[in-house]
Amino acid sequence: MSMPRVVEPEWLDHLPADDPRAVRSRGDLRRINQLMSASRLLGEALDPLVAGRSKVRIVELGAGDGSLLLRLAQSRARKWPPLELGLLDLQPVVAVETLVRYRELGWTADVVHADVFAWLAKTRDADADDDAPIIIANLFLHHFEDQRLADLLHGIARRARAFVCIEPRRSATALLGSRLLGAIGCNAVTRHDAVISVRAGFAGRDLSDCWPSDVSWELREHAAGLFSHRLIARRA
Ligand SMILES: C[S@@+](CC[C@H](N)C(=O)[O-])C[C@H]1O[C@@H](n2cnc3c(N)ncnc32)[C@H](O)[C@@H]1O
Repeated sequence: MSMPRVVEPEWLDHLPADDPRAVRSRGDLRRINQLMSASRLLGEALDPLVAGRSKVRIVELGAGDGSLLLRLAQSRARKWPPLELGLLDLQPVVAVETLVRYRELGWTADVVHADVFAWLAKTRDADADDDAPIIIANLFLHHFEDQRLADLLHGIARRARAFVCIEPRRSATALLGSRLLGAIGCNAVTRHDAVISVRAGFAGRDLSDCWPSDVSWELREHAAGLFSHRLIARRA
């Protein structure tokens, strides 16, 4: 099925961080990420990007409560080199306990409370930075309409040494899955946003087509699992 991409506002983005419906919806997102194996999909893409490095910096865009990478830290902390993590989000929703858990696992995690475009505007270009970060995102890029998305991906390409994202797949199967989230107890905010997210999600080469057409990048974009879409971009 060829489904046009439609971007509409998500309720979670417009609720105060401490609104009980938002708190509950972020809990739902943790369960959805587990069901969709987001941490595994991210981890297997990051393993080769991290291998052989003495030090690694990762910045997660739209990191929410920071719990996704904490799951990854639990499985990778012993295998990966010391890691510096930036958890960037518009909303300050990372719990102190989450930061403590990162520290216990040997990762340094900092919360970056910022709009992604403002952050990109003041971040150094990767060319001028031997220590450029790997930038990642989960359930984030689909928030942006096509022109904004292209601006975002161009900004990321200038600042990152690699980029990995896991997004909703714009497909009939994912749409059906999003409509069944009530069955696992997700609240009205999550149920609304899930359907909106699939319609705003990605298929085919949607993301690669917005990436700068520059031979110095290797791009792999594909379906990942039943409901997800993954882009792995690395400097050649
Ligand atoms: C669907 S949630 C996903 C959160 C997290 N990545 C996860 O998997 O649970 C999208 C997140 O993007 C954040 N966000 C939306 N627009 C943003 C922007 N312009 N800059 C930074 N963060 C933004 C929201 O606050 C929200 O936490």
